[in-house]
Amino acid sequence: MSLRTRLILVAVALIATYAVAAYAVVSTQRSLLIEQIDRRLGALPTDVLAGAVVPVPPPGHETVFAETEQPISEFFVGVVGADRSVVPLVSGALLPTTPDVVRAVAGTGGTPGPVTIDAAGAPGRFRAIVAPRAGTEGWVVAAQSLAETDAAIARLVRTLWIAGAVIAVVLGAAFFWIQRLGLRPIARVTATAEAITAGDRAHRVAVRDARTEAGKLGRAFNVMLDERDTSEARLRQFVADASHELRTPLTSVRGYLELYRQGAFQDKAQLDDIVRRLAAESARMHGLVEDLLALASLDERRPLRLERVDLGQVVRDAAQDARAVQPGRRISVVLPDSGPKVTGDPERLAQLVGILVSNALAHTPPGAPVTPAAAAQGAEAVVTVADQGAGLDPEAARRVFDRFWRGQAARSRAKGPGAGGAGLGLAIARSIADAHGGTISLATAPGEGCAFTVRLPRNAPPDKDDAA
Ligand SMILES: Nc1ncnc2c1ncn2[C@@H]1O[C@H](COP(=O)(O)OP(=O)(O)OP(=O)(O)O)[C@@H](O)[C@H]1O
Ligand SMILES: [Mg+2]
Repeated sequence: MSLRTRLILVAVALIATYAVAAYAVVSTQRSLLIEQIDRRLGALPTDVLAGAVVPVPPPGHETVFAETEQPISEFFVGVVGADRSVVPLVSGALLPTTPDVVRAVAGTGGTPGPVTIDAAGAPGRFRAIVAPRAGTEGWVVAAQSLAETDAAIARLVRTLWIAGAVIAVVLGAAFFWIQRLGLRPIARVTATAEAITAGDRAHRVAVRDARTEAGKLGRAFNVMLDERDTSEARLRQFVADASHELRTPLTSVRGYLELYRQGAFQDKAQLDDIVRRLAAESARMHGLVEDLLALASLDERRPLRLERVDLGQVVRDAAQDARAVQPGRRISVVLPDSGPKVTGDPERLAQLVGILVSNALAHTPPGAPVTPAAAAQGAEAVVTVADQGAGLDPEAARRVFDRFWRGQAARSRAKGPGAGGAGLGLAIARSIADAHGGTISLATAPGEGCAFTVRLPRNAPPDKDDAA
């Protein structure tokens, strides 16, 4: 059942409850008032009136009392004879009309008990009691007008109608208000979702009032859609970049193979050279695919193989590898006597430090010294790799960690066969730091070299030998 239907049902139930309550109030009030009149009628000394005390009017007289002697009364008291003739005893000077007392006798069959009767020949109602007249065939009827009671009840009914109308209007306004503020915006969100499913991907929810719950929902929905668009665009860009990077080495492999098929390489030395180049290209593709897989696995947030890792040892190993690659380079390691240790994936952490050190080798002149270091700082282990190369300008420094971003020099180097990377190293480094709950940052300025700093939490209880 929709919220709208439920609201309508609640409104209908409220109005119905009100109607029942109003009906109960009116009927209780009416019976109270009539009971009051009945009690007063019952208290009348009708027996006395009807009996010997009051004589039957002498012939030629209409009433017992003469017109001038009539008491000023709100009661009508009359004698109804067996022949249905009526002789008023008390004409009820204050009554607006005369009751049809013969009807009262007919209605009760002459037995005592209050009945409601109409006025004789005029609109109006009366309450009457009937008693047999002692010693005769007739009856005595006493009646009081219901005009005031009816007027009071009519006024009560009118008041209740007005109150009911006010309640209905208020309910209607509340319904409209809820509909406008709550339901229609939700319907807009639904319509947007449907439009997007149907292919209109640029469709967004029109948010009228961002302070309402529905407005906030609409805004959050729009933010989510923008977020999704951004991440899809990023993914498309990533796939395009990756394909582009793979195409370059593939093209040259195919080119060499085609030349070979056409018999371009006759002598052995030439052929050896080509095979060497083919090996280099396939190594480059292999490296790229390895990098992409590493990124994909880090993106997926697969659980790491956690161990206690001595970052000091990791830094020492990376420096050792670097010395093997560039024996002439000045590489000075700065480390405490032992540690620092972190809980992490040993292979990933070695990859992270390796990326920073090999970047320092690749992107600085051969004479520039490189200083890899590690230390414990409070709750963190800090690894820095500083070099004295050309450094980077702020725009480049902002982008180094982006996937596939390469500096100008690295880009031109990458063009040649078998040269340069794809620009994924630092992106992987950042993902590894992220996966370990850490951060990576770069301090650099043109002409001042680069200093990459990785901070990792030493989350496990610090070992004795870990304190630095
Ligand atoms: N120590 C450094 N000094 C100067 N520039 C650097 C340094 N480290 C990185 N860069 C710049 O940042 C860019 C991105 O580095 P990144 O490691 O991500 O990619 P890459 O080294 O070009 O390729 P690969 O994917 O093989 O690592 C480099 O192309 C280079 O221009
Ligand atoms: Mg690199």
